[in-house]
Amino acid sequence: MESLLPPGAAALLRQARRVVVFTGAGISAESGVPTFRDDLTGLWARFDAEQLATPEAFHADPELVWGWYEWRRARVRRARPNPGHLATAAIERLVPGSVVVTQNVDDLHERAGSTAPIHLHGSLFAPRCVAEPAHPAAFPDAEAVSRDVRAAQPAAVADGDEAADPGEGGRIPPPRCGRCGALVRPGVVWFGETLPEAALTAAAEAAAACDVLLIVGTSGVVYPAAEIPRIAARAGATVIQVNPEPTPLDGLCAVNLRGSAARVLPALVESAWGSAEAAGAPHPAVS
Ligand code: OAD
Repeated sequence: MESLLPPGAAALLRQARRVVVFTGAGISAESGVPTFRDDLTGLWARFDAEQLATPEAFHADPELVWGWYEWRRARVRRARPNPGHLATAAIERLVPGSVVVTQNVDDLHERAGSTAPIHLHGSLFAPRCVAEPAHPAAFPDAEAVSRDVRAAQPAAVADGDEAADPGEGGRIPPPRCGRCGALVRPGVVWFGETLPEAALTAAAEAAAACDVLLIVGTSGVVYPAAEIPRIAARAGATVIQVNPEPTPLDGLCAVNLRGSAARVLPALVESAWGSAEAAGAPHPAVS
């Protein structure tokens, strides 16, 4: 595994005092969660984003959109964190002050033991009321929204219920907000929407303050998220990338590690800190 790594990559990581791990769909690929832009299996190769991932799509056909997100949610629930997620959590433990910034809407970083990853594109597990921006006081925090929404959901779509998987293309009526009766929508960022401001600000601040930013498994084509590694580079951080394929971010990187996250990240951590345990001893939450 050592041979995967050019000399220097591990040393850069070991010497870092603040690391940002910036992840995309590629880190969850080996857990069985599809990426977006893979030519054959990517979600946007198989489904029309215009019909499923815009506010207009939800307005036009809420049952189709809610069903599609329930199907994705069910897939993620069945998935388990892979060694790439575990190695990321190990970096957080080994370098206090490190931050995970993810574009992913799954919860595999959390289940691997990462503390408070920043979700730039929202979460499959934090549905919210469509009217929320109009009455923010009614929903003081995301956890409360999620709790209220779950309480308002019919049993068939309650969190943790495997029977909620409607299958590909299955339709499910979205639940209604327990407080105001408006429709509940997936808590993800759709095309044409702005990113959650607090998350974007926190990610930009972490990028500006880190000494190493590790890009893992993103095509780097979606903005403003793809600006995060550029902020780090401009502030003088060393940028290292893990991806089996070239990306538009290659030129930004001091080191490009061509390989899969589940293979390269544990090797990198083990090479930096010299212990198999550091490379991703399973977190108690992973069973
Ligand atoms: P993409 O599907 O665009 O890119 C996935 C990247 O992961 C590609 O560069 C692959 O080469 C790489 N990859 C595949 N398998 C990998 C593996 N095992 N290990 C490491 N890398 C691997 O996904 P994102 O870049 O995350 O937005 O997409 C960005 C955003 O576009 C998503 O957050 C989503 C989408 O539209 C929203 O939903 C708002």
